[in-house]
Formats: sequence, structure tokens, C-alpha cells
Amino acid sequence: MGADSGVTFGLRINGEQREIAAGPETPLIYVLRDELGLKGTKLGCGLEQCGACAVLADAKPVMSCVTPAAAFAGREIVTIEGIAALPTGARVQSAFLDAAAAQCGYCTPGLVVAATALLSGTSKPGRDAIRAALTPHLCRCGSHPRVLRAVDAALAACWP
Ligand code: FES
Ligand code: FES
Repeated sequence: MGADSGVTFGLRINGEQREIAAGPETPLIYVLRDELGLKGTKLGCGLEQCGACAVLADAKPVMSCVTPAAAFAGREIVTIEGIAALPTGARVQSAFLDAAAAQCGYCTPGLVVAATALLSGTSKPGRDAIRAALTPHLCRCGSHPRVLRAVDAALAACWP
């Protein structure tokens, strides 16, 4: 746990209701990784500036590294572990695999989350919208060209 225990609250994560005990300021990512064992969400900058820690909250991408977990009570959280249960998420994940859109993979969960949110919430987003959705996500390995190919393929699968 990233901080001392202090409050208990319920979180709905990947379709399951979970009871959480955490410090009132403990960011969501520490609860996901350390309390719930959902290690797919990655800690990068810890400052909401790299995108590695993105998860869906009510279908919108959010960074999980700063906002306290308790602030997400009552919201529907989906992590990379649950993304394939969403029809769009399954298409995005498959497209990333087909395009080999990762090297070290550290940024990949966040990118898959961001692309899933974009393709779920926007009818046939254009190139500018795709770039805008992916811009908060840094990739030190330079895999963005393949990521863009993957998102294009997922777009075609979602909006044939
Ligand atoms: S770890 Fe959250 S944005 Fe970088
Ligand atoms: S694949 Fe290594 S940081 Fe993106």
C-alpha cells in the first residue's frame, strides 16, 4: 500500500464490487496494484504526465497516479485486465497484438485504454482526434508509428 490505511469504501473494478481499505490520499494506482494485484496498470511519472497509469472511469480515460482511490467510489473502473471484456477493448487489444505495437510494453496498457475510450466514445474519429487522444501517452521506445497503425486497424474493425 502506498500510504497508511484510514478509510474503507467500495470500488467497482472490472465489473466486480471490491471493498477497499486505504489511506484517504492513497492514489488509485496503489490500490489497483498493491491491494488488488492488478499489476497491468503501470506507474511512470506519478505526476499525471506520461499516461502509463491510465484506466477507464465511467468509460473515460483517467490517470490513476495522483487522484485518491476514494474519489472513484461509485464509478465504473476498467483496467487493462478488464479491457478485453469490452467489445471495443477486445478489438483494440487484438489490433495492438497484430501490429506488434509495443517494444518494452510499459506504455502499452495506457495506450490501449486511451484508444478504447476514443473508439468507444467517438464515431469514426479522424487523425487529429486520434493524435489528440494519444498525445498524453509517452513512449520511450518510439513505438507510436505502430500504435497509430494498430489504432487505424481497430478503427476499421469498430467502424467498418
Ligand atoms: S504515472 Fe500517471 S501519468 Fe505518469
Ligand atoms: S513500448 Fe516501451 S515505453 Fe512504449
